[in-house]
Amino acid sequence: MNEQLPRTSIAARIDAPPRRVPQPADPCAMVIFGGSGDLTMRLLMPALYNQACTNLLPEKFALIGLGTSDRTTESWQADLRAGVERATKNSGGIIEAAWNMLASRMRYVRGDLNDPALYAEIKKELDRAETQHGTEGNAIFYLAVAASFFATIVDRLGEAGLVREDINAAGRRFWRRAVIEKPFGHSVESARALNDHILQTLKESQIFRIDHYLGKETVQNILAFRFGNALFEPIWNRDRIDHVQITSSEVVGVEKRGKFYEQTGALRDMIPNHVLSLLSMVAMEPPARFDAQTIRNKKSEVLAAIRPVDPSSVVRAQYGAGTVRGERALPYRQERDVARDSRTETYVAMRLEIDNWRWAGVPFYLRTGKHLADRRTEIAIRFKNAPTAAFEELEGDNPRPNWLVLRIQPDEGISLQFEIKRPGPVVELAAVKMDFHYQDWFPPEPNVGYETLLYDVMIGDPLLFMRADTIEQAWRIVQPALDYWATDHGMIPAYPSGSDGPVEADALISRSGRHWRQIGDASEEDRR
Ligand code: BG6
Repeated sequence: MNEQLPRTSIAARIDAPPRRVPQPADPCAMVIFGGSGDLTMRLLMPALYNQACTNLLPEKFALIGLGTSDRTTESWQADLRAGVERATKNSGGIIEAAWNMLASRMRYVRGDLNDPALYAEIKKELDRAETQHGTEGNAIFYLAVAASFFATIVDRLGEAGLVREDINAAGRRFWRRAVIEKPFGHSVESARALNDHILQTLKESQIFRIDHYLGKETVQNILAFRFGNALFEPIWNRDRIDHVQITSSEVVGVEKRGKFYEQTGALRDMIPNHVLSLLSMVAMEPPARFDAQTIRNKKSEVLAAIRPVDPSSVVRAQYGAGTVRGERALPYRQERDVARDSRTETYVAMRLEIDNWRWAGVPFYLRTGKHLADRRTEIAIRFKNAPTAAFEELEGDNPRPNWLVLRIQPDEGISLQFEIKRPGPVVELAAVKMDFHYQDWFPPEPNVGYETLLYDVMIGDPLLFMRADTIEQAWRIVQPALDYWATDHGMIPAYPSGSDGPVEADALISRSGRHWRQIGDASEEDRR
């Protein structure tokens, strides 16, 4: 953050209306498949805890963890508590009342996901939750397990009658919902097959396909920024915009996830879900209403207008040795659980085209990778150059382009770069930035990114979740690259760990005379 900027007081928030009180979440039980897995420990449990602290969790709540390991409810609680302690260590530590509220509602059940006996146990636990905690029969089944289990779990839930929505003892209708983690399929065909399969048991309205990027405040803000202001929408099109760059760069490598990553790779891991979610928010048409159906229709429409990617406009690469933030890094092929001759990409860049009236002729460049120079997720919109005739006499540069950058993470905010006259006796241009940082305007709130998404499942709002057709559209767009790679035995380029990516990606964008924004050193950026 720029220390010279005055810290803006909350009172300076112009016309900010008071906070709207969220509607209370429905009483419910949450059943987590993968209850002792990494996702539960690192994200789901801290998110539930944060919800408990901010009253977003219903008081009538029960948490049922399922796993294959032999443990007790008490030892499960202890592990979950350790996860919450880690997540709260920088924000004053755990609040005992909120933790106790959650802990008193937990049960651990051991079982095999394939075994119908487990589902009989789940039924007993749901009945118990209804009697002991007043959950009214409402239940969320959270599938935090490997994708290969999704279909089986849904089948078994169906066979056991656990997803039937009916009338409870108090005469009220209760609901059953399933949250499905990514990866949802690994190709257009498998995504379609998985949709067809689970839709035999569940209704679309019961399925919440999660993409955790949509839980990020800054991602949700894209719609508020675009459609809550009169300023930007009129210039948000091919008349004014030269191209768009969407970057999601990470400094982490594959860490302990080699087994998963070897089968997945950067493209499947990030593009059809997170990156295309960002793209659809930036490129969709204005919705007439802010409800789930309208917004999901608009997102799906814009994806439908994207041409399947041309494999010659895709670059894949793997990280080699190097230095990431001062630490020596191993090449990908020497990571744990990674084949020494692996052909899995840890970086991908591509150019997409949207065939509609708003965007025809405006390329969208996407890139994502691990072990890059910096962690940065951003959407950068480069506007067309100003006519230069008036400045032709000036020495040095022509006017630099305007850039509008939506910074998704870290340092969440928005910046706009424009030209001004450099103070002094001669006319000389300089590029400056107006920079909005969330942290200057709003107090930080404990958030691991899943709070809003879990709350939305509890109130039954699917706006931030992927619909069957959206997922299939996303896979359709990337499928030609996957097909091409399946038969391409050429060399996979390498990039040094800690760099901005492979030179092949620079060549991809410079074919049209454009350049990537820098990942590593932001001070140099935005000049072209
Ligand atoms: C996950 C991917 O979905 O998103 C990971 O599987 C990736 O490989 C992660 O690191 C990035 O999420 P975030 O929120 O840290 O940008």
